[in-house]
Amino acid sequence: MLTKQAAEAPAVKIDRLTFSYGARCGGTGSSPALEDISLSIADNEFTAIIGQNGAGKTTLLKNLTGLLRPEKGDIFIRGKNTRDMPVSAISAEAGFVMQNPDRQLFADTVYDEAAFALRNRGLSEAEIKPRVEAALNAVGLAEERESFPIALGRGERAKAVIASVLAMGSKILIFDEPASGQDYRNSRRIMDILRELHGGGYTIIFVTHIMSLAAEYARRVIVMKEKRLVMDGTTADIFSRAGELEKAGILPPQIIRLGRELRGELPLQKDPLSAAELGDMLLALKGRTYGK
Ligand SMILES: Nc1ncnc2c1ncn2[C@@H]1O[C@H](COP(=O)(O)OP(=O)(O)OP(=O)(O)O)[C@@H](O)[C@H]1O
Ligand SMILES: [Mg+2]
Repeated sequence: MLTKQAAEAPAVKIDRLTFSYGARCGGTGSSPALEDISLSIADNEFTAIIGQNGAGKTTLLKNLTGLLRPEKGDIFIRGKNTRDMPVSAISAEAGFVMQNPDRQLFADTVYDEAAFALRNRGLSEAEIKPRVEAALNAVGLAEERESFPIALGRGERAKAVIASVLAMGSKILIFDEPASGQDYRNSRRIMDILRELHGGGYTIIFVTHIMSLAAEYARRVIVMKEKRLVMDGTTADIFSRAGELEKAGILPPQIIRLGRELRGELPLQKDPLSAAELGDMLLALKGRTYGK
């Protein structure tokens, strides 16, 4: 059961985080990869982190999940300082799907992949089975439970990794470019899984370079530029600030730009965040016009 402190604490709180890649990581340690980052994410938020190459997005996620450790500042997961948590304790709270999920696949079957961490924790097969089955169902891979993960298609491989993270039971899920290298259909399938998980109460944080996915799926957007956090707001708010985004090297998705153009001509109430939303707005307008 959650303690009162943990129940009231944000899912994630980052307080003045600074990080440099030291000699151990192959860097010089002289120039920080993250500078003075502070943010707080509540339970069940759906947050996209965007920014140009090298902005520090992956470094931030790795600090968050304990793969890298803060140089200055603190990270709290449900009120607990990650400095006091081994990686295994962090991953029990915050599951991480890395940018190239293939690197996280090593078992002989999809089932064993999802069961691996739980077996490591010493759970019995009877305890493991329902958790693994639920995770496979959540990503739509139940039929592939006996398949060799590496032999699956790219989209299915990504789902196998998501299932293995889900099986661990973490309620915070962190994804580094979940749609990268996926075709359009698989990207959407993966993002739809994230959306369903969000609907089921999970806290979702994902990094993406695909602005249309950030706009359509995220509720909140955090923008990084040159190691710093430069914008943080609701998705609609962030994508309406085109001038600031441009300074961070980001172009809002075409559909938002089109919507904004149309707002000059038509009485649209707000900027549409996806083609479907623009379609609905236009149809509603058409309905109103014809209804008169
Ligand atoms: N292992 C490493 N050793 C040294 N420097 C690194 C290492 N990994 C990243 N960096 C540097 O840290 C900074 C932030 O990199 P990071 O990978 O976090 O950016 P990113 O926003 O994830 O970029 P991308 O969109 O290309 O994935 C960059 O200047 C990068 O060159
Ligand atoms: Mg990255």
